Amino acid sequence: MNDKQLVALHAAKYVKNGMLVGLGTGSTANYFIDELARRQNDEGLKVTTVASSTVSAQRAQSLNLPIVALEHISQIDLYVDGADEITPEMTLLKGRGSDLVKEKLLAKAAKQFIAVADESKLVSRIGQNFVIPIEVIPFAWQLAQRSLADLGAQGELRPNAAKDGFWVTSHGSYVLDMRFDADFSAEVLNQIINNTPGVVEHGIFIGLTDAIFIAANGTVREQWA
Ligand code: A5P
Repeated sequence: MNDKQLVALHAAKYVKNGMLVGLGTGSTANYFIDELARRQNDEGLKVTTVASSTVSAQRAQSLNLPIVALEHISQIDLYVDGADEITPEMTLLKGRGSDLVKEKLLAKAAKQFIAVADESKLVSRIGQNFVIPIEVIPFAWQLAQRSLADLGAQGELRPNAAKDGFWVTSHGSYVLDMRFDADFSAEVLNQIINNTPGVVEHGIFIGLTDAIFIAANGTVREQWA
């Protein structure tokens, strides 16, 4: 069993009967979804799920997990998702996958949000390994890109999978993948990006995580806020 699977299975132990559970996106989250389905089949676990992306919704549906749409919920019991970067302060960078808007909504809506990852995701500061995904209204992308460039950011629209057009999120946004020259803190980046007209949402998650579960060399470490 690899570390991503190990940490996902560990988090799945926190799921109890009757919970409304948010499903993340990515390879670690996939292991979690698969484990929920296994527990439903083998142990009679009764849960309802809500997905952070169409790919996760399709996976849950194919495994016969009961699923509700995001528009029908205002709070969930537990959200388990991976991350692209995790700082010692439990700030996350997310959004390399499909839909960071739904991911942030679920993180905020959850009574408990547990981020799960292997140790390759640990960083000392946000933006260390990855660009910052910023969802923008399509007609505003050049204006937003220019505003962010004035603050020292460089980056382009994310291409689609075929590389013959732009990536479009499930609710119709484009994604600017931006790198900032200056060594801004996550808090400053959060403020700068939130203050940029045309931005729908971005991948920096501050103060939303209740726990981080990190797997390394076959063992899981829990860090609670
Ligand atoms: C999805 O948009 C991201 O936020 C994912 O949580 C992230 O890319 C983690 O993916 P892996 O679990 O595949 O590493």
